[in-house]
Amino acid sequence: MVHKMMLVRVAVLAIVAAAAAAETTINTVPEIAKGGETAFFDSKVFTGLLLGDWGGTNKSPYTEPGQVACAASLGEVAANLDADIALLLGDNFYDSGVHGDEHDARFEETFENVYTADSLQDIPFYVVAGNHDWLGNVSAQIGYSTLSARWIFPYYFYTRSFSWPGETRNVTMDIVFIDTILLSGNSDLLEDKFGELQGPADPVMAETQWAFIEAALNSSQADYLFTAGHYPVWSGCQHGPTLSLVRKLKPMLEQYKATGHLAGHDHCLQYIDEGKGPVYPQSGAGDNCCYHNKHEKSCPKGSIKFNMWNDGSGSPIEGGYATFTATEAEVKFQFYAANGTVLFESPPVLPREL
Ligand SMILES: *[C@@H]1O[C@H](CO)[C@@H](O)[C@H](O)[C@H]1NC(C)=O
Ligand SMILES: *[C@@H]1O[C@H](CO)[C@@H](O)[C@H](O)[C@H]1NC(C)=O
Ligand SMILES: *[C@@H]1O[C@H](CO)[C@@H](O)[C@H](O)[C@H]1NC(C)=O
Ligand SMILES: *[C@@H]1O[C@H](CO)[C@@H](O)[C@H](O)[C@H]1NC(C)=O
Repeated sequence: MVHKMMLVRVAVLAIVAAAAAAETTINTVPEIAKGGETAFFDSKVFTGLLLGDWGGTNKSPYTEPGQVACAASLGEVAANLDADIALLLGDNFYDSGVHGDEHDARFEETFENVYTADSLQDIPFYVVAGNHDWLGNVSAQIGYSTLSARWIFPYYFYTRSFSWPGETRNVTMDIVFIDTILLSGNSDLLEDKFGELQGPADPVMAETQWAFIEAALNSSQADYLFTAGHYPVWSGCQHGPTLSLVRKLKPMLEQYKATGHLAGHDHCLQYIDEGKGPVYPQSGAGDNCCYHNKHEKSCPKGSIKFNMWNDGSGSPIEGGYATFTATEAEVKFQFYAANGTVLFESPPVLPREL
C-alpha cells in the first residue's frame, strides 16, 4: 500500500507548477494532464469507489447526514474490497465550491474529517469538478493536490493509467477524467437548473478538451477504458441526459470501443446500458438522494437496468455510491445504499477487443 501511494505522489509533486502555468495559457494542455507513468497495483482484483455529489454543505457542520452515513459504510466497503482507488465525480463542495485558496477550511471540514476510515487513508482519490464547484475556485481544488497525500487533481481534465496482475499478463485500465462543465455549460447558471445546458462558456477551451479526449481515447490500448466526469451521458432522473454529451461524447465512446462513462450530477443511482458497447454507471447520491425520475422516457427504451430515484413515493435511500471490481476477464459495477446494503450488481462487462 505504501508503495502504491508513493507512485502516485511522484506524479503529484510536479503538479503545482504545471497547473499554475496552465492558468495563463489556458488552451495549452499541461504535460501533467497527459498521464505518463502507469500506476501498478499488486492486487488480483482492481477495485475502485465511485462517489459523486458528496460535497456536504456550506453551513456548519459542513456535512450532510447522508454524506456522513455514506462515508461510514464506504469505509467498510473499501476495507472489504481492498479498494485501490476512488473517483470523486464532482460537486465536491456544496453549495458553491471552495471560496478561498488551497488552504480553505472546507477541505478539512467536508473531505478529510469525513472520509476517515483506515481503508480510505492510503488510496488515491481522483477528482473532477462539478457545476457547484465551478461557482467557486476550482484552482483551489487543483492546488489542494499538493497538501493532501490522497487528493489527486492535476488539471481540469487528465488521463491516468492503471495496471494489475492477471493470470498470465498485466491487465490495464485507462481513465480519462473530463470536465463536463467546461464542455457543456453550468446548470447552476440557468434559470431552470434542470433545463437544457447552454453550451460552454469558453468554446475554445471546450474544443481544446474535446481534442484531448479524442486523442486519449484513440491512443488507448487498455483492456478497460473509461471517461469519468460530472455530467452523465444518459440519465432518467431529474436533470436527464446531457444532450451535448449524447451528441458528441457517446459517438466517440462507441467509435473507440470505450468500456463506459462514469458520472454523477443527478442525485440518484443508475446503471444504463443501451447495448451499443459503452455502459453508463451513474453515482450521484454521495450527499443525499433522490431526485425524481422525470427523464425516464428520455433514455433509450429498456436501457435503464437499475435505478434508485424518487418515482413520487419518496426517496428509497438516504444516499449511496457505487464501486467497480475489475479482473482480467471482466469488470462489474456494484451499487450501495448509505447503510452499506448492496442494491445491485451489474452483469459482467468484457475487456475491449481492439
Ligand atoms: C483560487 O485558488 C488559487 C490556488 O489556490 C489561488 O491562487 C487564488 O488566489 C484563489 N482565488 C481566490 C479568489 O481566492
Ligand atoms: C507487470 O507489471 C509489473 C510492474 O510494472 C512488472 O514488474 C511485471 O514484470 C509485469 N508482469 C508481466 C507479466 O508483464
Ligand atoms: C488515431 O490514431 C491513429 C494512429 O495513431 C492516427 O493515425 C489517427 O490520426 C488518430 N485519429 C485521431 C482522430 O486522432
Ligand atoms: C438499508 O437501506 C436499504 C435501502 O433503503 C433498506 O432496504 C434496508 O432495510 C436497510 N438496511 C438496514 C440494516 O437498515
